Amino acid sequence: MKAFLVERYSKKEKLSLREIPEPDIQDDEVLVQVHAAAVNPLDSKVKAGEFKILLPYKTPFVLGHDVAGTVVRVGARVSGFKPGDAVYSRPDDFRTGTFAEYVAVKESSLAIKPDNITMEEAASLPLVGLTAWQALVEQAKLKKGQKVFIQAGSGGVGIFAIQLAKHLGATVATTTSAANVAMVKNLGADVVIDYKKDDFEKAIRDYDVVLNSQDAATLKKSMNVLKPQGRLVSISGPPDPAFADEIKAPWFVKQIMRALSFGTRKAAKQLNIQYSFLFMKASGNQLRQITALVESGAILPVIDKIFPFDKTNEALEYVESGRAKGKVVIKVR
Ligand SMILES: NC(=O)c1ccc[n+]([C@@H]2O[C@H](COP(=O)([O-])OP(=O)(O)OC[C@H]3O[C@@H](n4cnc5c(N)ncnc54)[C@H](OP(=O)(O)O)[C@@H]3O)[C@@H](O)[C@H]2O)c1
Repeated sequence: MKAFLVERYSKKEKLSLREIPEPDIQDDEVLVQVHAAAVNPLDSKVKAGEFKILLPYKTPFVLGHDVAGTVVRVGARVSGFKPGDAVYSRPDDFRTGTFAEYVAVKESSLAIKPDNITMEEAASLPLVGLTAWQALVEQAKLKKGQKVFIQAGSGGVGIFAIQLAKHLGATVATTTSAANVAMVKNLGADVVIDYKKDDFEKAIRDYDVVLNSQDAATLKKSMNVLKPQGRLVSISGPPDPAFADEIKAPWFVKQIMRALSFGTRKAAKQLNIQYSFLFMKASGNQLRQITALVESGAILPVIDKIFPFDKTNEALEYVESGRAKGKVVIKVR
C-alpha cells in the first residue's frame, strides 16, 4: 500500500511517500481501507519529535491520527463490525498511521460513521471531537447555564467545542481574529473576542470553565477569567502529575511533569481554581455518542480545505501555518 512516513524526526523534512506492506491485524483489530484522513497539529509535533517522551515512535513510521473509511477485514475476537461497514476513528497511540491506504484500528476505538455526512467530513471529527468531549464533558462536567471560554474558536478543536458546549446548554465565549468572527457566531458562540484587538481578560469574568489551547501567557491570563472553584482544562500543557499517573508514566517522567506544571498548579491553588491537563484518548464509546450528535444535527463538521493524497505534505504545511478555519482533510480514496 502507499503511505506517508516519517523517516527521521524533523521539523523541516517532508514525509516520504513509499510502498509498504498492509498492516497486520491483531485479534481485537479491524483493517480499515482509508477514504479520508484529517491533519492535526499533533501530526506536526510528532513528526518534529516534540512528543518523544510521551510517544516514542520508532522511525520510520506512518503518520496520521484521524480516519474515515470502510472495514475490509476483522480480527478473530471482533464482534461489532463487519466488512463493508463505513467507520471512523482516532486510532490508539502506537497504532496510528492514517496517512496510508489501510490502517489497523482496535475495535474499542472504532465507531460507525454518521450516515448524514461524507467520508471527508467524518474523518475531520474524531480527534477534535474526542478532545472537546473529554475536556468539557469528562473533565469539566460542563452543565446547562454555565459559562465556558473556548480559545481559538475557529481552530479544529474550537469549532467542535463551541457546538458541543452550546448543545450542553452553556454560554460560550471564544477568541478568533476578525475574518473568522461570523463563522464562530454561526457555530453558536455568544461572546466573540478579536484576540488581535482586544484582551479577553478584560472582556469576560466569573467563568465556570476555560478550555485552554494556546501558549503559557494565555494560560496564565485565563486563570483570571474563572470564578472561584472554576475549572481550567489545558490541552496545550503543561502536563501535571495526575496525568502522569493516568498514563502510568515512569517515575522520572512524573517528576518532569511535576516540575513543568509547578508554577501553574501553585497559581491555580492561590486563585482557588482547579487545573488539569488533558491529552485526548481514543474511544469508540464516546465516538458513538458523537455520531448521535452529528446525526441529530447538533454538531456540524467544518472543513477548510481538502487535499488529494499525494499533497499530504502540503496539507501538513497548511495546518502548520496555524491559520486553518476548521479542519484540513486528505482525500485518500
Ligand atoms: N492535548 C490534546 O489532547 C490536544 C488535542 C487536540 C489539539 N491539541 C492542541 O490544541 C491546539 C489547537 O489545536 P487545533 O486543532 O484547534 O489547531 P488549529 O486548527 O491548527 O488552530 C488554528 C486556528 O487557531 C486560531 N488561532 C491561532 N492563534 C490564536 C490565538 N492566539 N488566539 C485565538 N485563536 C488563535 C486561528 O485563527 P486565526 O487565523 O483567526 O488566528 C486558526 O483558526 C494545538 O496546539 C494542538 O496541538 C491538543
